[in-house]
Amino acid sequence: MNILAPSILSADFGRLKQQLDAVKEGGAKWVHFDVMDGHFVPEISFGEPVMRSVCAISDLFVDAHLMVYNPADHVEAVAKAGAQMLTFHYEVMPGGAFAYGGINDPDMAIEEATRLIGKIHEAGMKAGISIKPKTPWEVLKPLIPFVDMVLVMSVEPGFGGQAFIPESLDRIRAIREEADRNNPMLRIEVDGGIKVNNVKTVLDAGADTIVAGSAVLGGDDAMEKARAFMEILA
Ligand code: DX5
Ligand code: ZN
Repeated sequence: MNILAPSILSADFGRLKQQLDAVKEGGAKWVHFDVMDGHFVPEISFGEPVMRSVCAISDLFVDAHLMVYNPADHVEAVAKAGAQMLTFHYEVMPGGAFAYGGINDPDMAIEEATRLIGKIHEAGMKAGISIKPKTPWEVLKPLIPFVDMVLVMSVEPGFGGQAFIPESLDRIRAIREEADRNNPMLRIEVDGGIKVNNVKTVLDAGADTIVAGSAVLGGDDAMEKARAFMEILA
């Protein structure tokens, strides 16, 4: 089943409940929660306090995307705040070429990621892993049997409203082929620059979970914008 996950990074926090109710009415099942630490990505966004408020005012599935340097330190707090999915980045794993002075040691990164996936599952959440556009998708191969979702960044993480990177389509196709072999239930989420006029290409490539920030929550009529996406996703 295709899912629309509006990203609240583009929301008007002065009327967040109205916007969350509107996207739900428009057919969205998830709310995508872009947690940014200002270190792994340039911007600082929001964290557990806002997540608690969102969970108190909406029953949408909270899909937490942690663009943070130390996701393992936040698992319990994110679960307690009410998230049902926690997605972390491959690149911040020791050996994942961002952390620890850019050491590139895939075996170390996979070992750490496998441990973190277990920790997320133990906390009662589904586990997702994400890669930035320049990270070869193949690094995820050993993890595909164990994760619930792969999040393909189709923009450089850090800001809403950027342009979709077309090379993402081949990566989505390749990951879907790998999942068909080793984890047919895997969700593939795509995040960044998704609009009504390009979402069909992303679905055809094999994605089934669509993040849309500015295209749904930027400006007014969020319900109609969500509905326009659902006419394509349904
Ligand atoms: C960017 C965030 C994306 C962003 C998507 O780093 O991870 O989720 O909010 O926003 P749009 O849909 O406006 O590109
Ligand atoms: Zn995101």
